[in-house]
Amino acid sequence: MKFYGKVKVKKVEFMTEDVFKMIVARPDKIDIKPGQFFMIKNVELYPLLNRPISVSSYNEKEIEFGIKIVGTGTENFSRLRVDDEIILTGALGNGFDLKKEYKKVLLIGGGIGVEPLKGAAMELNKMGVFTKMFLGFNNECFDINVFNEVSTEVITFSEVENKADYMGYPTDILKGELAKVDYDVVFTCGPKILMKKVNEISKANNVETQLLLEERMACGIGACLGCTCETVNGYKKVCQDGPMFYGNEVNLNE
Ligand SMILES: Cc1cc2nc3c(=O)[nH]c(=O)nc-3n(C[C@H](O)[C@H](O)[C@H](O)COP(=O)(O)OP(=O)(O)OC[C@H]3O[C@@H](n4cnc5c(N)ncnc54)[C@H](O)[C@@H]3O)c2cc1C
Ligand code: FES
Repeated sequence: MKFYGKVKVKKVEFMTEDVFKMIVARPDKIDIKPGQFFMIKNVELYPLLNRPISVSSYNEKEIEFGIKIVGTGTENFSRLRVDDEIILTGALGNGFDLKKEYKKVLLIGGGIGVEPLKGAAMELNKMGVFTKMFLGFNNECFDINVFNEVSTEVITFSEVENKADYMGYPTDILKGELAKVDYDVVFTCGPKILMKKVNEISKANNVETQLLLEERMACGIGACLGCTCETVNGYKKVCQDGPMFYGNEVNLNE
């Protein structure tokens, strides 16, 4: 079941200078899948438009979002305090396809794109699937303790020396990893350039990719056509047909 209405903020906590987690009360009886998103709106403040934010993780009582401040909307969310209310719509979109036959899954995230992979690793862990995460950051790593709890193995990358396990990008060691371990699928989320490289390397190694596309969204429910993308099966709405697409469906060149 989908939800539209007000929920209470339970926690806002900064993880770096411009990245914070926001935990809100989970409404009763709503369905959530990793890779889905909610449209989030401040009750009173400008801007009045909804902002799409992926589910990071969740349990029966709470939903967690990981948010990077890039403009007015996300900055306003960061100013919310315990017991403030926000308006949620969702969960929206298709989310990751967690196939029963998966035995080994590699999850590759970049920047704030690491956050939606948390819920996926959490569910795969419950299914008994082996998961390894390659998490890329442009400076400080964040939330690593939690990723370590939900994934079999976590390897971190940073563009800055001595901030992570490796200096560089998750794609630097991807080819070697796919040659070494027989993965069923790679899940990826982050900057388009990262997902494009992950997709190319995985494809060359005959491993399928599920990726989360991001487009500017106004309605989030398929009504405005603002989020269309071209796929091998024609034009699709990222908010309704995605945001998860298989790597062989989409063109990541633009
Ligand atoms: C399905 C989906 C899931 C998302 N999940 C998350 C998430 O989990 N955490 C998170 O921090 N962000 C996420 N985003 C991005 C987030 O929605 C935007 O950063 C936010 O809407 C920006 O709002 P703002 O008012 O702060 O910035 P604005 O003032 O609206 O924009 C600031 C800058 O960010 C750019 N921008 C805004 N939205 C997007 C977008 N969708 N794609 C590319 N550039 C954009 C603008 O062009 C502008 O340069 C997601 C987006 C989508 C479509
Ligand atoms: S955001 Fe309106 S159709 Fe997708």
